[in-house]
Amino acid sequence: MSAEKKRPDITVGKASAPAVSAPTGPALELGKGLDIGTANLISAVQDREGNLYIKAQRNAFIDIDQDDFTRNMLTKLGVQYVILNNRMVVVGDPAFELANIFNRETRRPMSHGMISPKEADALPIMKLLIDKLLGKPQVKDEVCYFSVPAEPIDFDMNVTYHEGLFRDLLSKLGYNAKPLVEGHAVVFAELADDDFTGIGISCGGGMFNVCVSYKTIPALSFSTSRGGDWVDQNVGKVLGIKASKATAIKEKGVDLRKPVNREQQAIEIYYRELIKYTLTNIKQRFEQGSDLPSFPEPVDIVFAGGTSLVGGFTDVVRQELAKLDFPIPIKNVRRAEDPLHSVAKGCLVAAMSES
Ligand SMILES: Nc1ncnc2c1ncn2[C@@H]1O[C@H](COP(=O)(O)OP(=O)(O)OP(=O)(O)O)[C@@H](O)[C@H]1O
Ligand SMILES: [Mg+2]
Repeated sequence: MSAEKKRPDITVGKASAPAVSAPTGPALELGKGLDIGTANLISAVQDREGNLYIKAQRNAFIDIDQDDFTRNMLTKLGVQYVILNNRMVVVGDPAFELANIFNRETRRPMSHGMISPKEADALPIMKLLIDKLLGKPQVKDEVCYFSVPAEPIDFDMNVTYHEGLFRDLLSKLGYNAKPLVEGHAVVFAELADDDFTGIGISCGGGMFNVCVSYKTIPALSFSTSRGGDWVDQNVGKVLGIKASKATAIKEKGVDLRKPVNREQQAIEIYYRELIKYTLTNIKQRFEQGSDLPSFPEPVDIVFAGGTSLVGGFTDVVRQELAKLDFPIPIKNVRRAEDPLHSVAKGCLVAAMSES
């Protein structure tokens, strides 16, 4: 049964640390959650005492020529590698460290929330990473919910193909794989106290995913192609610097309420535009839609994802909301307690409610 129709009656506990490995000993609840993101892959499981276990890996890899020198170096550094098409391949977090050592860029299996058409090696690499994060199913056909983008409104992409590839990949690993749109996962993770009624928005690297939910049922959900990468590319362009430099400045810590230099000011301008664009799209789609529920009581709007981590994010949301005649009454504007893990947690909630 789809999680969209079934009411999740389970909430998940808090992670004891930002990223801990699942124990091999204590019994785990049945059901796993997996966030398949452009920048990060994240898995979530819970033990029978209600402790949540999160594992994360960068969704990246690097390939290196096979020679004795490099092989010895990787062995000395304790870095695991696989051989793919006669090249040595390192995946996940260690790929980032190696990219620095070799002064190269990592390769990315996904772009804009989808498997990348430019990367022929994307799928086998992601299979390795997902295997590393999820491990074997505890029972045959254990339910695993995985995140997928909602239908995009401003770019052409094939969600069906992407979803089919990962359903197949997870099935081959022995799971009963089910897709969950990313904004809906935020609702499952963050709006349990509100009867799963409200607005969940996942602010990722490649995209934003929005879900307006009424008592667990998504009334409206869509994605846009603007996310953290969009901010970085625009800031890079106007300042004449590389987008990766703009990313580094942004992630080092910027407060949108008080930008202190030219770079931070550019980041603030594009963040504000991004937030305005997202809210305006919700307003327009909601007003144009038919059969949408009315919200007699004000609801919360919750943000998750790495792009919501910037300082002052919710303040700018409040300022931009005040300028719009927003069709849904809003009670609180808040950020998820653990924004990077919220989507994986929501997938876990869906999986556990079916297991
Ligand atoms: N401290 C920070 N301040 C601002 N942005 C940040 C910070 N840390 C990470 N980010 C941004 O968060 C984004 C990645 O977020 P996240 O891990 O939620 O994306 P994803 O789920 O992998 O991608 P998507 O959902 O688009 O497929 C990147 O654009 C990154 O630059
Ligand atoms: Mg995401």
